[in-house]
Amino acid sequence: MEPEDLKLSTATTEELLALAREHLFRYQEAFTAPLIARAQGATLWDRDGREYLDFSSGQMCATIGHNHPRILEALRQSGERVIHLNSHLISEEVVLLAKKLADLLPEPLKKTLLLSTGGESTEVALKLAKMYTGKWEVVGIARAYHGHTGGAMAVTFLPRRAGFGPWQAGAYAIPAPYCYRCPLGLTFPQCQYACLDVGFELIDAQSVGALAACIAEPILSGGGIIEPPPGYFPELKRRCQERGMLFISDEAQTGLGRLGAMFAFEQDGIVPDILALSKTLGAGVPLAATVTSRAVEEVVVARGFGFLSSHMSDPLPAAVGLAVLEVLEKEDLVGAARAKGEYLKSQLLELQARHPLIGDVRGRGLLLGVEFVRDPVRKTPAEAEALALTQRCLEKGLVVQVASHRGVHTVWRLAPPLTITYEEIDRGVAIIDEALSEVMA
Ligand SMILES: Cc1ncc(COP(=O)(O)O)c(C=O)c1O
Repeated sequence: MEPEDLKLSTATTEELLALAREHLFRYQEAFTAPLIARAQGATLWDRDGREYLDFSSGQMCATIGHNHPRILEALRQSGERVIHLNSHLISEEVVLLAKKLADLLPEPLKKTLLLSTGGESTEVALKLAKMYTGKWEVVGIARAYHGHTGGAMAVTFLPRRAGFGPWQAGAYAIPAPYCYRCPLGLTFPQCQYACLDVGFELIDAQSVGALAACIAEPILSGGGIIEPPPGYFPELKRRCQERGMLFISDEAQTGLGRLGAMFAFEQDGIVPDILALSKTLGAGVPLAATVTSRAVEEVVVARGFGFLSSHMSDPLPAAVGLAVLEVLEKEDLVGAARAKGEYLKSQLLELQARHPLIGDVRGRGLLLGVEFVRDPVRKTPAEAEALALTQRCLEKGLVVQVASHRGVHTVWRLAPPLTITYEEIDRGVAIIDEALSEVMA
């Protein structure tokens, strides 16, 4: 790619970074190079023509690869048809997307609200559960992430919730099912889900008798790619049902193929009462959905349920959502996630055998976590080494993300687009191998 084709202005990259420092609000430590100018599939190019492999699928959205031709077609078509409408008017693409989701989902998940972001899909899910049950207490999992809006942050149990005063009253956390570092010091399966027993004992002690819902990610991604052990979700759902709570699955990152099933809850052998989809549905365009049953919809509508946003049921993102689902099926990306995920995981396990800095490799499909430790027995977190490795990989042309911005800097999230080729996986793994040798030299 020629640099001349990648530049929007005559400014140098250093000049643009200086402008970023002057005018962009710092939501992260610093804005640094590269400045990305183009994306295609699993490849990014900076404005100086350097190529990078993207093992983060953008912000976990680009599951079908960056700038997929079918998405470009949907965007072009929307430009010719209709991009945006007042939220009370609907278009054909919106109806077809709701129908397509209903076709893909099992009973009773047949009623969809089309939204823009994951935070919104969490807000709607919590509101539905509260209005349906007539209660208001909510339960989440320690280390969970559900978005930065008010209700979502109340059930987000990561350090980033600090600094804003109290969130919603009646929001409780149960321990994370973090088997590599079990908070109870136990081992699965001998533990018999003790983290759930302890969690719900504390919930029952604190509750004022108004438990409405429990929300969970199938794999706690932002909290460090924590994959709950087999059988965890049926046990969790049973405890919710015993207390009259609805179970909400937040599949922002896991929905639509990434784990090797269309929806992760299928692998866990449960069906949630409410499903939140976002990131992967728009594959890079803001699109989210909260899906529930006819029964829940019936009750909350009768009780005057209200939710509205400027981009609710907008035609352009709906057209993109339809394109994403079409590509997922046509290119069998669910099967690809399974096969390529197994391949990438085996490569990472092979690296672990040679590099003691890798304490754990976990996850499934193409949502994999690598935890770095100074010593594999004591599992001392290797935060400085993990950050140095991340930077070294970037310099070598591989984009990887630490799973969390603050507090948990020792776990990488490896989640390339499902369209990545085996040759690209090999290239990425070779870069990680080299970077590990250099950082530990
Ligand atoms: C599981 C989960 N839920 C919700 C969100 C929030 O999504 P958004 O950033 O689109 O509001 C995220 C984003 O990372 C997420 O990973």
